[in-house]
Amino acid sequence: METILITGGTGYIGSHAAVCFLEAGYQIVLLDNLSNSHAAVLQRIATLTGQSPPFYRGNIADAPLLDEIFNHHKITGIAHFAGLKAVAESVQQPLRYYQNNVAGSATLCAAMQKHGCKKLIFSSSATVYGAPGAVAYTEDMPLAPVNPYGRTKRMVEDILRDLCAADSDWRVALLRYFNPVGAHPSGLIGEAPQAVPNNLMPYIAAVAVGTLPVLHIFGNDYPTADGTGVRDYIHVQDLVAGHLAAYAALDKHPGCTAYNLGTGKGASVLEVVAAFVKAAHREIPYQFQPRRPGDLAEYYAAVDFTREKLGWQAQFDLQKMVEDHWNWQKNNPKGYL
Ligand code: WQD
Repeated sequence: METILITGGTGYIGSHAAVCFLEAGYQIVLLDNLSNSHAAVLQRIATLTGQSPPFYRGNIADAPLLDEIFNHHKITGIAHFAGLKAVAESVQQPLRYYQNNVAGSATLCAAMQKHGCKKLIFSSSATVYGAPGAVAYTEDMPLAPVNPYGRTKRMVEDILRDLCAADSDWRVALLRYFNPVGAHPSGLIGEAPQAVPNNLMPYIAAVAVGTLPVLHIFGNDYPTADGTGVRDYIHVQDLVAGHLAAYAALDKHPGCTAYNLGTGKGASVLEVVAAFVKAAHREIPYQFQPRRPGDLAEYYAAVDFTREKLGWQAQFDLQKMVEDHWNWQKNNPKGYL
């Protein structure tokens, strides 16, 4: 069976992918700089899978470290999650985002080329689409990201498209996430932001568990059913199953292909709050605030292309997403601390 290097392997998505790929029979190696994750995840992965994959603490930009990993392990492919991902932070610190996400990924690709490893699935994002106006995003839409974070994702996609155009041996899947939420049903791994959460679900979970006092809902005057923002939330377990399907399909689909990973359904902020109240059996106090700059009213994934090409579609509904997110948070009120 193949050995896959998972960059960002102790992070939220990376750790769920680690469990998923181990359960599917792959050997894995983990690389993470622990800048937004915790080494405690490694023990949780071992508890869930009975395996303790090799772990390297470090950066994707560290070429000598990448050489060491490739020289010690027969890496046949890469699942690339490592990256900074806070939109607002990227506006304040663009150079840090370009150096980490773009230059780091280019260094990773150079190491892959040097060691003859040309299979990669990349953690991209729906933010590469920008604000196309249409609510259902299709993979053939033009890419027009509107913030530095989204531009780093589009730039890494461009690097990978150019690599595949230059060398037909490369096989790449660009996985464009919508809004990942939820946690492994065991409640042993989940989303554990190190700072105050930017994203809706971990913020609601922190209010529900009592570490934050009130949810601020950014805008209730959008042209949506209840006036609050609508997004395509996808269970992290569905998301990583999509990665497994995309990796397995690489040998069938040479070149560089983009896939939306979403449910195709939108949910409003107030619908998410209501689902959380139902799952946690407690109120979630909230206050309406002005719209957050850069937010769009509504968007979600068109899912036909991914379903047809990968034979994958999301299985879990919003209530299951919220129940699993709450199960993780109530059992780990301080995350991995
Ligand atoms: C969702 C909705 C907010 C927080 C971002 C990134 C995207 C991806 C997912 C990386 C919106 C509202 C939020 C809060 C709120 N990350 N909200 N109060 O902005 O859709 O996407 O995270 O790939 O790249 O752009 O996610 O969870 O921040 O917001 O009312 O405290 O919840 O206005 O309508 P977003 P989000």
